Amino acid sequence: EHLRGHFPTGLKGLDAALSGGIPFGVLTELVGPAGIGKTQLCLKLSLLASLPTNFGGLDGRVIYIDVESKFSSRRLLEIGLRSFPEIFQMKAMAQEMAGRILVLRPTSLSEFTQSLEQIKVSLLQNQVKMLVIDSMAALVSGEHEQGNCRQQTLSWHISFIKSLAEFSRIPVVVTNQVRSHNHDDASRYSFQVQRRDGTLEIPIRYDSHLIAALGIHWAHAVTTRLVLEAKSGQRFIKVAKSPISPPLAFPFHITSSGISL
Ligand code: GTP
Repeated sequence: EHLRGHFPTGLKGLDAALSGGIPFGVLTELVGPAGIGKTQLCLKLSLLASLPTNFGGLDGRVIYIDVESKFSSRRLLEIGLRSFPEIFQMKAMAQEMAGRILVLRPTSLSEFTQSLEQIKVSLLQNQVKMLVIDSMAALVSGEHEQGNCRQQTLSWHISFIKSLAEFSRIPVVVTNQVRSHNHDDASRYSFQVQRRDGTLEIPIRYDSHLIAALGIHWAHAVTTRLVLEAKSGQRFIKVAKSPISPPLAFPFHITSSGISL
């Protein structure tokens, strides 16, 4: 049933806005400043994907590209225990769920490139139900190639990741950090949203350092962009780009049981 198109995040308003959740077969980007909760959301989504289908999961493996060593098994198990005690109170089950999440820590873009072939094989064998890259900008920031050459390497990676999503029809979730929203610092970019009743133009602030790191090709490769931000002590998750949703924002919290609305 999940092959129909969307993977519920459990954040109800967000799922409704996105016609069910994170779309299959395309790239979804989570953008926001340091510490806002991008990794926490990735942990929750990974956990959900590993769960049996009767718990709303995808009953599959997850490949988690953990570039900055932010992945925490301890935290994953805590979220599991708080959210799905029936499963995670049983040690063997908890271990099995956690074991379904394969964490890779490439130290360079070329190491990541080498693992892409392995990832492709796993995807072809149909065991992997979600791919997480936390974060894309961190993955390429260590590269010292300049100018055209760098853009070509990046374009290749962006196209490859996009094609992985397309042929395997799984959700691909990618994070990117932007500096905290300093209006002088951020470039104004506008993304188009296609709706049945016409095209909606959504201006969003897409940090200039992210554009510099990943190029505008990246911004266009992403189908759904969710921006996480904080205002007056409240965290929000905002649909900044989507083929189906208007630009709605939903408040969320991070608790011991993970991210919730
Ligand atoms: P960068 O990776 O630095 O860009 O940040 P991020 O957006 O990935 O932030 P992350 O997901 O790491 O969220 C960090 C926030 O999550 C912290 O400020 C805490 O509020 C919250 N958090 C992290 N771990 C825990 C935990 O174990 N328990 C609780 N209750 N909150 C946590």
